[in-house]
Amino acid sequence: MQEILDDIVATIGASDDRGKVADYIPQLACIDPNQFAISVVLADGRVFSSGDYQQLFSIQSISKVFTLTIALGKLGDGVWAKVGREPSGDPFNSIVQLEHENGKPRNPFINAGAIAIADAIMVGHQPRETLAEILQFVRFIADDESICIDHKVAESELKTADRNASLAHFMASFGRMKNPVDYVLGTYFHQCSIAMTCEQLARSGLFLAGDGENPVTGTRVVSARRARRINSLMMMCGHYDGSGEFAYRVGLPGKSGVGGGILAVAPGHASIAVWSPGLDDVGNSKLGTEALERLVQHTGWSVFA
Ligand code: DON
Repeated sequence: MQEILDDIVATIGASDDRGKVADYIPQLACIDPNQFAISVVLADGRVFSSGDYQQLFSIQSISKVFTLTIALGKLGDGVWAKVGREPSGDPFNSIVQLEHENGKPRNPFINAGAIAIADAIMVGHQPRETLAEILQFVRFIADDESICIDHKVAESELKTADRNASLAHFMASFGRMKNPVDYVLGTYFHQCSIAMTCEQLARSGLFLAGDGENPVTGTRVVSARRARRINSLMMMCGHYDGSGEFAYRVGLPGKSGVGGGILAVAPGHASIAVWSPGLDDVGNSKLGTEALERLVQHTGWSVFA
């Protein structure tokens, strides 16, 4: 495994064609696109990493997997009254379907859906409490108390919030927001601004590779059925309008973020994190996807095997 990862870093990680870093969030625009990392945590707990795997990066939309998991814990199937579970086929920040569908986002991973999920888990709590709960959950699943929020990124998102604010207010116009819109947006921006290393991120996905249980710590996070369902949502919706392409090329459930990270799950085998800040045309890590494609060619991991 170490050889495979070192080879991926030496070849794909050194590619000239790296995509474009997200520039609509100013704090992400200044990230060096030449960084690259990959980490694999096997189901037996062995960890393999290569490249800049100790470098912190903004997990962005990957946080939506964690908030969905929290929401399912709080609301159970009540989550599906708030968001659907169909791929959108539209960009992550698109507003077009919301009008036709009465303000109900297609799935929990597009921005509108994740804002609706943040609203759902906030009920009865202040933003600060909700954020503490999200952070505590991420630290628990990653088994790492050092994980924190990058407040500079959160501030940067707040300053350029027009699109997300539009989505949130539009949903509110359908009576779908239970908390003040500004509170929900503040929570959402901060959850997206959680900073993690590739290794921490790979550890955080272990429960999804282990049928709901973290095989390293032996703690159950969700039921096996719930873990499978979260994986299916990642497979269908985790890469927005690039989800079909990702399923075709990688064949594993995955969730991307505009910080250039991808969390992928090989059920029964491993949790994998990759990071390369340059994005493709639909906002998913360009080299990150190529790295995962190469990894599954070597390992044979696929949910379609
Ligand atoms: O709300 C946003 O636009 C960002 N905080 C998150 C978007 C994102 O990561 C999309 N993923 N590829």
